[in-house]
Amino acid sequence: MNLNFSCPWTIEDLRHSIVGIDTTVPLLDGRIVPYVFLDNGASTPSFRHVLDVLNEFMEFYSGVHRGTGFKSILATHVFDEAHAIAGEFVGADPERDTVIFGKNTTEAINKIANRCVWEPDDVVIVTLMEHHSNDLPWRKYARVVHVGTDDEGYLDLDALTRAFRQHKGHVRFLSVTGASNITGIVNPIHDLARMAHEEGAWIFVDAAQLAPHRNIDIRPHDDPGHIDFIAYSAHKMYAPFGIGVLVGKREWFAQGNPDMVGGGVVEVVGEEYVAFSPPPAKEEAGSPNVPGAVALAAAIHVLRKAGMERIAAHEHELLTYAVPRLASVPGLHVFGPTDPEKLRGKVGVVSFGFENIHHAKVAAILSAEGGIGVRNGCFCAHPYVKRLLKITPEEDKRLTENVLKGDRRNIPGMVRASFGCYNNFSDVDRLVEMLHRIARGEYIGDYELDERSGTWWPKNFTYPFEAYFPHFSFLREPMLEGYGEAS
Ligand SMILES: Cc1ncc(COP(=O)(O)O)c(C=O)c1O
Repeated sequence: MNLNFSCPWTIEDLRHSIVGIDTTVPLLDGRIVPYVFLDNGASTPSFRHVLDVLNEFMEFYSGVHRGTGFKSILATHVFDEAHAIAGEFVGADPERDTVIFGKNTTEAINKIANRCVWEPDDVVIVTLMEHHSNDLPWRKYARVVHVGTDDEGYLDLDALTRAFRQHKGHVRFLSVTGASNITGIVNPIHDLARMAHEEGAWIFVDAAQLAPHRNIDIRPHDDPGHIDFIAYSAHKMYAPFGIGVLVGKREWFAQGNPDMVGGGVVEVVGEEYVAFSPPPAKEEAGSPNVPGAVALAAAIHVLRKAGMERIAAHEHELLTYAVPRLASVPGLHVFGPTDPEKLRGKVGVVSFGFENIHHAKVAAILSAEGGIGVRNGCFCAHPYVKRLLKITPEEDKRLTENVLKGDRRNIPGMVRASFGCYNNFSDVDRLVEMLHRIARGEYIGDYELDERSGTWWPKNFTYPFEAYFPHFSFLREPMLEGYGEAS
């Protein structure tokens, strides 16, 4: 490794450290251009430092916790340290909180919902802003009450107060996103925590979209604004190696049985009894993702080296640059707040749409003719997107019936550009320039709609994957004759 960690990293350092930052991609007109990646809200590329650390670690890779060899002892030490680093990243109390590794934020939320001992009248208050991952797991066990938003997408705090009042004594959790994956709006999580605690409820914060962009401090347990439970995903913060983090009260996880059982979760087992280990081991059944944990710790190291404040300031500059330029594209509407004053309260996510061009067609043109990677659709937050699009209940019913019949022609949605800490003004310029071209009808492809999937794509155009990632076909080649046969 040859990295200068003696001084803080600049945003340029972060950009240079992105694996694939110079990747070029083919366009419909035969040109090859540098790729602009604006889908960081889904999953980010990796920092090179993460790969370097991982490569070094893999020399010592071994199963953890019960091995007696040097490699296992080292890997165990590293894995345990990664837990501590992941907890420190959000200000966890090492005594009172536990840090549980799983696959991702979705798994973390399912775990809390699965682990809670529910009463029949229990209520979980969520917001209309939530990703399905912070809505559906609760529906399995409790009555879920959705608190709405205003037209810009801000949480309606009066409606939240009313919901607490209406369900007084029954609300177990207030479960909110730290930042929206559609509008980028950042919720006032500590104020919400105070409200929840005053009502005798706990707060869970889905930090999947907050952790890559903002400094998070869950605050001491005796602080009324303390966040009781929080989760985030490494693949959204430059370490896409399959690990997610759940931080929460150690005492809570110490009670009851884990939701998944098997190897690694017990102190002792008899034919008739099981004594579970203390958390986090109790909650991490099976062989864990040790490389993922190492990668996460390395990514946190880079983010801290740059400083989350610096990253937030850079993303604010990007938004301040991007939003008015997007809004000035003829026929394009930006969803969520656009007022410069309000952009400070957003992470780097902007969703938009043309009045007269289908969102899936716009996304296809951006890819095939601009070399720009965005995302379109409802982004696993259907109720919020429909609210922002002002879809009436009657339209919603009709659209739902069509989708269930396999007709996705008119499926509602938006286009989303989501920035990472490494994106720059020239990435925004490429996006805006292409959107102006689309507005002027200056695209060359003959785009067709696939009714079943709702996607658009230019006729007779396929990407030449072979030229870019030949291993793709190599991995599928049949084995050499005779190879692998028993001798
Ligand atoms: C706000 C929010 N919550 C939860 C998730 C789910 O995260 P994961 O896919 O890592 O489980 C996402 C993913 O996009 C998200 O944006």
